[in-house]
Amino acid sequence: MIAVINFGGQYCHLIARKIREQGVKAEIFPHTISASKLKKSFPEGVVLSGGPASVNAENTPKMDLKILDLEIPVLGICYGMQLIAQGLNGTVGKGKSKEYGKNIISVKGNDPLFKGLKKEQVWLSHFDTVKKLPKDFSVSSSTKTCKICSMYSLKKKMFGLQFHPEVHHTPKGKKILENFLKICKAKKNWKIPSLIKSIQKQIKQTIGKEKIIMGVSGGVDSLVASALIHKTIPNQLFCVFINNGLMRKNETKYIQSLYKKMGFKHFFVVDAAEEFVFALEGVSDPEEKRKIIGHTFIHVFEEKAAKLEEKFGKISFLGQGTIYPDRIESAEPSAEASKIKSHHNLTLPEQMNLNLIEPLRDFYKDEIRKIGLSLKIKKEFLFRHPFPGPGLAVRILGEVSAEKLSILREVDSIFIEELKKNKFYDKTWQAFAVIFPVKAVGVKGDERSYSFIVALRAVNSVDGMTADWTRIPELLLEKISSRILNEVPEVGRILYDISQKPPATIEFE
Ligand code: XMP
Repeated sequence: MIAVINFGGQYCHLIARKIREQGVKAEIFPHTISASKLKKSFPEGVVLSGGPASVNAENTPKMDLKILDLEIPVLGICYGMQLIAQGLNGTVGKGKSKEYGKNIISVKGNDPLFKGLKKEQVWLSHFDTVKKLPKDFSVSSSTKTCKICSMYSLKKKMFGLQFHPEVHHTPKGKKILENFLKICKAKKNWKIPSLIKSIQKQIKQTIGKEKIIMGVSGGVDSLVASALIHKTIPNQLFCVFINNGLMRKNETKYIQSLYKKMGFKHFFVVDAAEEFVFALEGVSDPEEKRKIIGHTFIHVFEEKAAKLEEKFGKISFLGQGTIYPDRIESAEPSAEASKIKSHHNLTLPEQMNLNLIEPLRDFYKDEIRKIGLSLKIKKEFLFRHPFPGPGLAVRILGEVSAEKLSILREVDSIFIEELKKNKFYDKTWQAFAVIFPVKAVGVKGDERSYSFIVALRAVNSVDGMTADWTRIPELLLEKISSRILNEVPEVGRILYDISQKPPATIEFE
């Protein structure tokens, strides 16, 4: 296992994912971890992640320097390299200029990290650089403007990179990480088929002969989690899908048939659309909507669980599709950032006194899709666009109504259908429609008319943290627009959103 110590930002998740792609387990630890605690998890190597701070500033994330005495190979990336340098009596100072973006390094010395590499493109994002090497270290690469672009000590098995090997713009970054894993002699045991077996074993051991209930949302995580549990203990699993009335067109039918085809024995649909729409009446504030949806969900779920217990006997466990990034709180960019929107997904009903089981708690989304594929779940489902827990409620700006829900469903379905037909769906990270709370003027026949305004949004993104709008060709936009205007008479105007995230977000609310 490789321990990735997090010094801020999203870098650590990307590093962990890149290591796992090479078949080696990587786990993230907060920068506050002590050397003695870290040692207890037996890491074969340690990566100190990058981070936005300067090691010379006050109140920046520090590390327990005893980690550098554990005699485990250490790779420091950017901020991580500067921590090594500062911690071992080298010096770090401001560079001549802020280096940002692509650059070329010339490799020197015999650093095993650069085995097989000479002149390489790398991606830099820094202001500080190492000015004086610590004892026993040598320079392993430079750029025109940065003399110590990387450093190494064979004696200490320590390595520092000023650039980011984990990003796409460092094409040989994969090779560098691979070389580090070789230096660590890291075991390559992070393989999906054997991991599935070990999760199944754990599920069996934990649940024994008890019963487990799961609220499934129709999303990838809860489907894969439920499929894994179903594969292990099919008769003990009870899945509940709540139609909250905020779903896309034909969603309930689609999910129902998916679970049926997969042979789920106990799959229940609760139609609570009216209850949700009623609870949302008169509410315009997006955070308030999310809260109401969350609470209503818990209420409906509890009621169904009680009925199932009456019929089938005691249920002791609750399954959830929590995934690794959900639970690594310390990896959040900042407490402030995470407060931009509260994501109310399926949360544990507290009063129910159930034991929690999260079979996917150690995995990233791409790994979950791989697990799904090996469980023979259709690719088409596993690669569906993300859909927010509060559903269409956050795509109806202002107050939700049955009328707007029905209009939005039609518009969304035409948009997605055309993207699929024209091979744009898979090229897009997420696409959807939004309906405005005001109407716009138009002409129908010889008369003025007032009809709804909808916006179409399609974005390209890697993880939803940043996003760019998808360049849908004009002709396709025109086709989509004329289909919507013809087929959904309540809509009179269509806008295409060309804002990037940041400063916008992906959803409108
Ligand atoms: P934003 O709008 O924050 O969206 O740029 C980033 C990703 O998160 C999804 N999203 C949500 N997902 N509950 C969810 O489960 C929510 O309340 C929620 N709000 C946004 C959004 O669809 C995008 O994929």
